[in-house]
Amino acid sequence: MLFDLYLPQRVLFGPGSTYRLGEEAQRYGKRVLLVTGRRSLKETGNFERVTAPFSALKLELVFFDRVDPEPGLDCVEAVREYARRERCELIVAAGGGSVLDVAKAAAGLFYEEGPVKEYFYGREVTRPKLPWIAVPTTAGTGSEATTNAVLIDREAGKKQSLRHPFWLADVAVVDPILTMAQSRELTARAGLDALTHAIEAYTCRFTNPLSTAVSIEAVRLIVQNIYTAYTVSRNRDARERMMQGSFLAGMAIQNAGVGAVHALAHSIGVRYGQPHGLVCGVLLPHIMEFNLPLVEEKYAALAVAAGVVPAGTDSGTAAARFVDYVHRLVARLGLPAGIGELGVKPEDVDGLVEATLPAGSLKTNPRRVTRPELKEILRRAL
Ligand SMILES: [Fe+2]
Repeated sequence: MLFDLYLPQRVLFGPGSTYRLGEEAQRYGKRVLLVTGRRSLKETGNFERVTAPFSALKLELVFFDRVDPEPGLDCVEAVREYARRERCELIVAAGGGSVLDVAKAAAGLFYEEGPVKEYFYGREVTRPKLPWIAVPTTAGTGSEATTNAVLIDREAGKKQSLRHPFWLADVAVVDPILTMAQSRELTARAGLDALTHAIEAYTCRFTNPLSTAVSIEAVRLIVQNIYTAYTVSRNRDARERMMQGSFLAGMAIQNAGVGAVHALAHSIGVRYGQPHGLVCGVLLPHIMEFNLPLVEEKYAALAVAAGVVPAGTDSGTAAARFVDYVHRLVARLGLPAGIGELGVKPEDVDGLVEATLPAGSLKTNPRRVTRPELKEILRRAL
């Protein structure tokens, strides 16, 4: 077996770990660009928590607070330009996956001369990045543990990953307290994105001992805590375990891969303007049903690990129960049962199939997915 591992260099996990941001940042310089979304940091009361540690050490903070959900290449261009103009020595990203991904790509391409778009379409990255610190405020994306940034080229209607092995965060400060004020809706969507990561990484074609170990633990943590986090927003234990799960799931996808859910989530997300976690959550049980014949043993292992069935249940029954459990979980979290409710019409299926076929994550899916299978999956998922 051959495998490469990409592991975060330094992770500070735990309730309140945000207070350590200042001492971490000052190792890289005095002038810091803080990248956030438009509103959520201020609305949730996290703005103070994140900025106070910098002020305490008299670091100079400049702000970029205009990252949109499902961001485009122009946003990365704007952050890179702003960081250069303000002569920042470090980028700190505090937000969900969109914020982390934009900051990661802007830091990654800071010293590169070409437009962001050229790197998005394959131009080689040859220069080292600007240091960056990841501060996730959702338990979902796992971007604090990955080298890729999911971005949209709106002119071409294309959503894909821009990545480089050098782009892991220099430090990840993973503080579950920052997720406590997250809305129910966002908790469900982000949590289902993380669950999708964990399940796809565990069952995909290119697993290794590390990805297997962390993805099964991520499934256990997420399955056992997502509904509590959703219903009792301020339950600290559930929030903490969801954050552990989403971080481990991020490590797992970085070192294994994803699958057909992510391939389809990108093409559906960009065409219908739907958030990533929502599309993943709706698709997940449908793709699991499709993959079931090839990964029965693996679904059975996940079902036992997550406590969905008792140990000793025969694998056919355990695997089927696990798929059924995920179906019901998605419904309990308030998501629609099919992609029809996301705006996909039967006549759109052919176009979606063609848009999805080139996706790299189709090739890591455990069951082979070609044109006819993809068509069938989409029809059933309507
Ligand atoms: Fe995802």
